[in-house]
Amino acid sequence: MRRKSIASERQDERMVATLSWPHLIALGVGAIVGTGILTLIGVGADRAGPAVLISFAIAGAICACAALAYAELATMLPAAGSAYSYSYMVLGEAIAWVVGWSLILEYSLVVSAVAVGWSGYASTLLVGMGFPVALTQGPELGGIVNLPAVFIIAVVAGLLMLGTRESARVNSVLVLLKMITLAGFVAVALPYFDSANLEPFMPFGFGKSMGPDGVERGVMAAAAIIFFAFYGFDAISTAAEEVKRPERDLAIGIVGSMLICTFVYVLVAAAAVGALPFTRFADSPEPLALILRELGQPGVARIIAIAAVIALPTVILAFLYGQSRIFLVMARDGFLPSGLARLSGRGTPVRITVVTAVLVAILAGVLPIGEIAALANAGTLIAFIAVGTCLVVMRYRAPEMHRPFRAPLGLWVGAATVAGCLYLFMSLPAKTQLWCLFWNTAGIVLYAAYGHRRSRLQGA
Ligand code: ALA
Repeated sequence: MRRKSIASERQDERMVATLSWPHLIALGVGAIVGTGILTLIGVGADRAGPAVLISFAIAGAICACAALAYAELATMLPAAGSAYSYSYMVLGEAIAWVVGWSLILEYSLVVSAVAVGWSGYASTLLVGMGFPVALTQGPELGGIVNLPAVFIIAVVAGLLMLGTRESARVNSVLVLLKMITLAGFVAVALPYFDSANLEPFMPFGFGKSMGPDGVERGVMAAAAIIFFAFYGFDAISTAAEEVKRPERDLAIGIVGSMLICTFVYVLVAAAAVGALPFTRFADSPEPLALILRELGQPGVARIIAIAAVIALPTVILAFLYGQSRIFLVMARDGFLPSGLARLSGRGTPVRITVVTAVLVAILAGVLPIGEIAALANAGTLIAFIAVGTCLVVMRYRAPEMHRPFRAPLGLWVGAATVAGCLYLFMSLPAKTQLWCLFWNTAGIVLYAAYGHRRSRLQGA
């Protein structure tokens, strides 16, 4: 139950503050728009039919509540550890450990999943140039190792080690490309909108239910997957220490990037399900390109595929950045070897970045993309539940504390974040829930056997 004081969080060795809100919006949009809208929209349509539009709305509304909760906490307690640090200061060490452990699931698996997704697009081009197929897939899919996925993680990690500002600049250019790509898709596909494609609108019902093929379907089952497309705004809060005016810039960055992405997603989803019957692109590895080809636009489809290969690494960048910051803060707190937390001359945590990159590259090299995204969602949902709880607890415990950003309807927003994320968690595939339970049980055993004695607060 011991809690870290807010003042002590501010005394630790600090990283260099170089970022302001335009960087944060670019970092946020860069982290949010990725495999979710480019690939999982097909999986979502498979699970819910045209009613995937409702799944988008539900996942978006829950994430909007979570974004407000993050904005209030990130500006009130700016710390690089994000949900882990807030939980440590508000809910106590044991819960913080579980949240940190769940964040590892979120950040690492997103990096691995998006790297494998990137490799899916890139491999088609590489194999056409004579690259061996066995080196483009992990063992479970009959290959040896997914080398392109390992490669892209190495490139992004190298960029991060050059320093935050340099990475933020490259990120901004790629984010622009990504938004142009999605706008291009909407511009070409929307004129083909036919309301007949929306019938029947909700073929698999609302709540999660098992289909005859062993796949769990329904609007909520799709929402639990589509959720992947919306998060990433939380990665901005891990940049808290490197923001010049955190009290203003963090709120603008978190809420702003979330609003922009929700707007774009609604347009893309409506254009997709309106242009073609959903069964024609459901479960495709490249649904947006496929839709355009089916509409007789192969040239635009190819351009969009190439743009995806160029722009997807921004998601890897944001999550690898976030993961290395969370490990850094956990190391400072005594939960990881302290040598790892040392900053290089450029003010970036090089060792932690290398360790993180190697771990996620191994996962990306050998695992199929399949259920990685669902498991990443499970970890994220636990972190969001903790943040919603922290918001409510702090409103009661310290009502007079200065809040540079105050979430409107704060208590309701906190409660809706917790309830909505619980509902999404229940809607995940049963297998994913089990894996998540297994991961956190292992984490708790490790904390009981080792973590609580290594804590910097031990004996404090
Ligand atoms: N929201 C991010 C994506 O869609 C994780 O790739």
